[in-house]
Amino acid sequence: MRGQNPVFIPGPTNIPDSIRQAMAVQTIDHRGPAFAGMIGPLFDDLRRIFDSRDAAIVTFPASGTGGWEAAITNTLSPGDRVLATRHGMFSRRWIDLCRRHGLDVEVIDLPWGEGACPERIEAALAADRSQTIRAVLVTHNETATGVRSDVAAIRRAMDAAGHPALLMVDGVSSIASMEFRMDEWGVDLAVTGSQKGFMLATGMAIVAVSPRAKAAMAGAGLSRAYLDMREMIAATAQGGYPYTPPWQLFAGLRASVSLLLEEGMEAVFARHARIAEGVRAAVRAWGLPLCAARPELFSDSVSAIVVPQGFDSARLTDHAFATYDVSFGAGLGEVAGRVFRIGHLGAMTDVMALSGIATAEMAMADLGYPVTLGSGVAAAQAHFRATAAPIRAKAA
Ligand SMILES: Cc1ncc(COP(=O)(O)O)c(C=O)c1O
Repeated sequence: MRGQNPVFIPGPTNIPDSIRQAMAVQTIDHRGPAFAGMIGPLFDDLRRIFDSRDAAIVTFPASGTGGWEAAITNTLSPGDRVLATRHGMFSRRWIDLCRRHGLDVEVIDLPWGEGACPERIEAALAADRSQTIRAVLVTHNETATGVRSDVAAIRRAMDAAGHPALLMVDGVSSIASMEFRMDEWGVDLAVTGSQKGFMLATGMAIVAVSPRAKAAMAGAGLSRAYLDMREMIAATAQGGYPYTPPWQLFAGLRASVSLLLEEGMEAVFARHARIAEGVRAAVRAWGLPLCAARPELFSDSVSAIVVPQGFDSARLTDHAFATYDVSFGAGLGEVAGRVFRIGHLGAMTDVMALSGIATAEMAMADLGYPVTLGSGVAAAQAHFRATAAPIRAKAA
């Protein structure tokens, strides 16, 4: 019976039954009261997920990449300078997208496995005496390497340099799964998509826009039409949409947001942290290093695991899928063939994670990896047993 196992790719993630069912709804007239009545409360709840009081919420029928494009084209002008760190596939792609729009990108290059470096950002901003850098771009969670960057520290670095650039954060694989505090961290544009922490089908870019970023839209000279945030904000404020909204996705998003808020965002973060630590315990037991260089960089939504010398991680992910019908994330870009990734975000439990760990172990043993069958499972079980009680007590 194929197709019944959970996926362990870092998005798109497993979709809970309640969300799948919520999306299976008949068409409505999107100009009628049902849509108008849904969107205001939904956006209020989304603000709670971004942890922002005043952000404008913008959703486009797009994936996360459309959110990146919207963030820059709505706030910047051709030739504008932006500062970005590059330390993985997704930070690299965002830089490419900026260049294709004619932006002048100053890149801070770091080894893959490192996180965005606040000290170097502060130095670059301090050196920009005429303050021509208009935005700092940060990938909060580099999905290719399983690295979390410290956005709060980057905000402090920007403040220390006394620099007014906008702070744009890619939270595609962190928002709604890992701690994210838009207001507290002074984030101006927070970009995500529907298919990861929100546990939803792919197809919606979700962006939160600070009042400062909204003000920047008036002077922005890059062209935008379909992704124009001003039209989107004006239309949704009236309970409408500038074009046909993806209603079934909205119905799913409503269910997803309710599910997240019922669990509570702090509990969502704690669940992800606990499961991630279980996966990391397994990885340690296998004797394999993570791609992330140091513990403070470890992502709670995805672990990128370095395979031993002489092994090709693409063979491992292919074998796991062909033999056990389980998908793990392949290595991307500079770490292709060298890492495989276990995605542990979204609709994920400790029990599901154990099945992924057990399958990874079987696949590695099949291919002759020097890992002891059962070692990772046992290490994760020990972690989950030791940390289960407080969670049960909390639920009670
Ligand atoms: C951190 C990050 N940014 C951006 C993207 C691109 O998003 P999408 O594939 O939804 O366009 C991804 C996709 O995996 C991602 O992980």
